[in-house]
Amino acid sequence: MGLGVVAASPFVFVKELLNGHFQGKEPWQIVSVTTSTVLFSVWCYGFFFQDESLVERSKKTAFRLFRKIPAVKKQIEDELESISKGFEEDVRESTKNLTFITELPKSGIKREDIINKLDDNLTLGNYDWKGGKVSGAVYFYNEDLINLVSEVYGKTSYTNPLHPDLFPGLCKMEAEVIRMSANLFHGDEDVVGSMTSGGTESILMACKAFRDYGREIKGIIKPEIVVPTTVHAAFDKAAQYFKMKVRYIPIDNKTYQVDLKKFKKAINSNTVLLVGSAPNFPYGTIDDISAISELGVKYNIPVHVDSCLGGFLSCFMEDAGYPIPICDFRLPGVISISADTHKYGYAPKGSSVVLYRNKNYHHHQYTVTTDWPGGVYGSPSVNGSRPGGNIAVCWAAMLNFGKDKYVQATRDVIHTTKYIEKGLRRIKGIFIFGQPVTSVIALGSNDFEIYRLSTALKEKGWNLSVLQFPSGIHICVTRQHTKPGVADQFLEDVRIALDEILKNPSEPVEGKMAIYGVAQALPDRSIVGDFTRLFLDSMLYIPKQKK
Ligand SMILES: *Cc1c(COP(=O)(O)O)cnc(C)c1O
Ligand SMILES: *[C@@H]1O[C@H](CO)[C@@H](O)[C@H](O)[C@H]1NC(C)=O
Ligand SMILES: *[C@@H]1O[C@H](CO)[C@@H](O)[C@H](O)[C@H]1NC(C)=O
Ligand SMILES: *[C@@H]1O[C@H](CO)[C@@H](O)[C@H](O)[C@H]1NC(C)=O
Ligand SMILES: *[C@@H]1O[C@H](CO)[C@@H](O)[C@H](O)[C@H]1NC(C)=O
Ligand SMILES: *[C@@H]1O[C@H](CO)[C@@H](O)[C@H](O)[C@H]1NC(C)=O
Repeated sequence: MGLGVVAASPFVFVKELLNGHFQGKEPWQIVSVTTSTVLFSVWCYGFFFQDESLVERSKKTAFRLFRKIPAVKKQIEDELESISKGFEEDVRESTKNLTFITELPKSGIKREDIINKLDDNLTLGNYDWKGGKVSGAVYFYNEDLINLVSEVYGKTSYTNPLHPDLFPGLCKMEAEVIRMSANLFHGDEDVVGSMTSGGTESILMACKAFRDYGREIKGIIKPEIVVPTTVHAAFDKAAQYFKMKVRYIPIDNKTYQVDLKKFKKAINSNTVLLVGSAPNFPYGTIDDISAISELGVKYNIPVHVDSCLGGFLSCFMEDAGYPIPICDFRLPGVISISADTHKYGYAPKGSSVVLYRNKNYHHHQYTVTTDWPGGVYGSPSVNGSRPGGNIAVCWAAMLNFGKDKYVQATRDVIHTTKYIEKGLRRIKGIFIFGQPVTSVIALGSNDFEIYRLSTALKEKGWNLSVLQFPSGIHICVTRQHTKPGVADQFLEDVRIALDEILKNPSEPVEGKMAIYGVAQALPDRSIVGDFTRLFLDSMLYIPKQKK
């Protein structure tokens, strides 16, 4: 067999090689070698092509094994135990003057007593959120609006849109909220959607819809979504719930928008959804939605815009005199948008909208069970029964505000944000991440540990959000910050805190905030996970009494 033959026909070469190899072997040997080779290849494929890269998995496995070494295991368990004790101790300390109801009262409690107890318990907590000392959280607090929504909720508290035949009025209100929102985001008359209990549910629903859409229309069985690292944690939640893979794309370290080159590279035949934020939670920057939309059109993949935080600001910004880049249904690739009515829509907590370009997409959000003995069961979102009152109060808040008041509220919030941003930029020792577009300003420092600033501000009653990778803190400006004097007080307190900090810039972070620094440095994220579970437990469970 000459070389010429090999070059001309590799197939002949392989055939000769195999025949030579199996010469004189019995059939069973041939069969078993073949079978094991195939099985081994399948295993290799499974091993190398998993959701996580090989390096990531090796790292995790290494840590998992490391955590199994008895001495290490013991030390970690002791450490977690003591942290858990610490959390419990904190909670026990802060709740030691309180009594907890643990048994259902034998006979019912009178109305006045319940209201008294309620009023009393509502005074718990140390932050002056009404006075604008807290980032985000409460977007508007106003007696008139509260009176209105109380009356509306009172009249609708027993309604349940699960039964449209009983409460068609609630379904009509939901449809009206969706229609008004669709118009604000420049959707045409084909745009439809659902009201949900909040941003997280809106995002879960969109991810579910596009996972199913990808499977049914394109046959994708290993769905992936491509998102910026700055996207809300609800997308990771969706991926955990719905078994999808998230491809996190880093952001540009100057603009704090997603890196489009890497974004494009991550798209493949399993991609069911592309996501951009308008704006994102950590930095308040808006990704280049128009470019992401173009990618969506080019590759025929739906694009979701997460406007949960800033949606009901961004759609009024042009009218308020602060035009921003287009990031809604006017872009052809944008197929769905989530926007929280319970943030800058100023509705009470418990409502959000998710909108789709047309009903073909929305249908994949529904679940339908046809063979249940209880009847054919269809529901649009996570919940079965839904509080009709949440729909009604959202509807009432939107109607009560009207466009003019939203535009004015937006103008106030953005004006205050720009004012604070300008003030902060003049202060030495800190910098602002990227260009905030709506209401979030994120701060970092090259000169000192930025968490020291949040500790110092906490002493002055301010509660800001903590960011990691890299370390930072942010303030999300709400209506509560637009009151006279609040912004100036904030800037003044930052200045005073920084004067103190910059006297010893290299001092380490102390107190609770030190945990964040440590947590960021831990390579094994599973410990951070354990730690977070303990924290949730300590907040949600009634503390056990000390024996
Ligand atoms: C708040 C927020 C969400 C999730 O909203 P919830 O109402 O808290 O569930 C999603 N995305 C962004 C950018 C947000 O700020
Ligand atoms: C509990 O009550 C005591 C006595 O009234 C008071 O000194 C203490 O500050 C209270 N503790 C808390 C956490 O409120
Ligand atoms: C809160 O409610 C409890 C009953 O759960 C009541 O005993 C208590 O007095 C109320 N006030 C405070 C501040 O806890
Ligand atoms: C769905 O159920 C959750 C948990 O029971 C609840 O908090 C939420 O308000 C409900 N969703 C809607 C749309 O009301
Ligand atoms: C930003 O990224 C560029 C290129 O990746 C890198 O050279 C630079 O050091 C980074 N700057 C910062 C502040 O991280
Ligand atoms: C703000 O308050 C929350 C809740 O009490 C707390 O978890 C968080 O650490 C506080 N943040 C700062 C910067 O003080």
